[in-house]
Amino acid sequence: MKKDRFIVTIDGPAGSGKSTISKLIAERDGFLHIDTGALYRAIGYLTDGQPTKNDLNNIHFNIRINNKIEIFYNGENIEKFIRNEECGMLASNVAKIDYVRDFVNKTARKIASVGKYIIDGRDCGSVIFPYADLKIFLDADLKERAKRRAFEDKRSVEEIEKEIEKRDKQDKSRNIAPLMKPNDAVVIDTTNLTIEDVYSKIKEMIKERYEHKDS
Ligand code: DC
Repeated sequence: MKKDRFIVTIDGPAGSGKSTISKLIAERDGFLHIDTGALYRAIGYLTDGQPTKNDLNNIHFNIRINNKIEIFYNGENIEKFIRNEECGMLASNVAKIDYVRDFVNKTARKIASVGKYIIDGRDCGSVIFPYADLKIFLDADLKERAKRRAFEDKRSVEEIEKEIEKRDKQDKSRNIAPLMKPNDAVVIDTTNLTIEDVYSKIKEMIKERYEHKDS
């Protein structure tokens, strides 16, 4: 059955709303959310930004599947340590390394076997799942993205703005799998949209693509 697997990818820069919308779709519509950024963050955090190939062999993520992936290390859920902007930069640094990218890509592809998946990151539609059923590219003005992150991190908008601008530049200019809009992606600018607006748009597209998948 063609509908055994249905994949939606959501790529875009920091603070564009990828994780928020992915979580919502996972909760409401029974998709499994694979947050590839969280894998880079975990690797950055656990190796202090300097992963060797051997470190990756020794990192055993205990990935729990509900409708989301939880990353455990030594029995502890590390979610609370990896979400700040400092860890975002560590993640962006380790994401330049080819063997780290191979590790994350393999992990994501292994998880996404049978079922409905929503996968967010920077290269999910361009590299990890080029044959995804629906590719979305989320974007928003830098200031608005910084405001969202500053609210989450409880820090100043100006500080965060500088940091995410630097991180985006690094993610766009790296040699391997840079942040880019896949040619066949639908772009949604979330600057002036509520989360419910974004949800309705994506939900409509999912419905349409899913209905046509078998025909
Ligand atoms: O989505 P995020 O902010 O949690 O991602 C953190 C960093 O991880 C991001 O700045 C670059 C890297 N990343 C990547 O290179 N490719 C992905 N598919 C996801 C994240």
